[in-house]
Amino acid sequence: MKVLVIGSGGREHAIAWQCSQFNEVKHVFVAPGNAGTALEKKISNISIDSENIPGLISFVKEELIDITIVGPEAPLVLGIVDEFKYEDLAIFGPSKKASQLEGSKVFCKDFLDRNDIPTAYYQAFTETKPAIDYVKEKGAPIVIKADGLAAGKGVIIAHSLEEATDAINDMLEGNRFGEAGSRVVIEEFLEGEEASFIVMVDGNNILPMATSQDHKARDNGDKGPNTGGMGAYSPAPVVTDLVYKNAMEKVIGPTVDAMKSEGMPYTGFLYAGLMIDQNENVKVLEYNCRFGDPETQPIMMRLQSNLANLCLLGANGSLANATAEWDSRSSLGVVMAAKGYPYSYQKGDIIRLPESSSSAKVFHAGTVLYNNKILSNGGRVLCATALGKDLKDAQGRAYKLVNEVKWRGSYSRTDIGFKGLQHE
Ligand code: AMP
Ligand code: GLY
Repeated sequence: MKVLVIGSGGREHAIAWQCSQFNEVKHVFVAPGNAGTALEKKISNISIDSENIPGLISFVKEELIDITIVGPEAPLVLGIVDEFKYEDLAIFGPSKKASQLEGSKVFCKDFLDRNDIPTAYYQAFTETKPAIDYVKEKGAPIVIKADGLAAGKGVIIAHSLEEATDAINDMLEGNRFGEAGSRVVIEEFLEGEEASFIVMVDGNNILPMATSQDHKARDNGDKGPNTGGMGAYSPAPVVTDLVYKNAMEKVIGPTVDAMKSEGMPYTGFLYAGLMIDQNENVKVLEYNCRFGDPETQPIMMRLQSNLANLCLLGANGSLANATAEWDSRSSLGVVMAAKGYPYSYQKGDIIRLPESSSSAKVFHAGTVLYNNKILSNGGRVLCATALGKDLKDAQGRAYKLVNEVKWRGSYSRTDIGFKGLQHE
């Protein structure tokens, strides 16, 4: 079996690495990949951009790729899956229409609302005055979201009316997020604890992935600016049996059914960002039409079944009898970012990595190989990930790995996993 993974982040390194562990997988290509995927056995990078759909199609035809797995949301929202299907090529991901669950917050909220799937109350606006009137009526705290893709930066939690008004003006008048912010969703501020609930869907059938939780804020104690994610672990103790049941029966099941009955059956990874309240009720904060980053890194370390196989079954609508086997140990990943992230930061620092194993491994994200040296090349650069007998042990092992990385310009939180440990 030959596999193509599209993307260049930590998620894609982890997916490609997981697939490469199985004998039936002959080779994994990553487009365009990073230094991590360049250095793995049985994995090679190809220099085709993840949004160059015609280029990717030509490559898949030439190399006779058996299954393509899409990492990031951008090519999905552009319609890569529809294009591949037109050419009869196997690809695991949602169609352009179904990707709107992530591509448009208004689409997502309207879908949830008309299907009675629990979420924060909301209203969408394109004009400033009615938006500000709505905020005045509802009061702060309140949440303002740019409609389109904004790389995780289009969400403002406003703690006062003034902050809310500024955010609305910024997005609707100031063009802060360009086209993505020409429409805003204003919604209720939800309290509780967040978890990432990720499943595979084949249009009909659902195969849940192991539970996980990430830390979106940059600094310790969940303080500081919002980021793409500074660390994650699996399983997530906050996802009790009841939370799991609520998530499957009230959110994921109804979503898959409604996508089908509305004529846009969902195939691919489906990631619900959930807010869990004290009574273990769940509400959808957002949908992503892909795997989470960095959730993928600890989850892939626990997955014992061949992901490439599961994706092929998913693409063929055959997940009904599929199972995923999980390592019973806990896994935790600490993101090592460039100092300054998510604002401006330096690139081109030399990085030296320790030996890795299948239970303690540094996944690459923003790295590039130059003259056989690993250089930093992005905001989130590495994710040091380790298995341990429990969450505490996995945390200790992941931080040991962080300390063994030689890179002067790195920044990481020192408390990844604390939320999970509070439950134990
Ligand atoms: P989103 O991109 O919609 O997931 O939002 C990014 C982050 O903002 C989420 O992970 C939450 O931490 C926070 N957030 C989004 N919506 C809400 C909400 N309605 N109430 C509280 N926090 C929220
Ligand atoms: N870790 C959050 C995300 O992938 O969106």
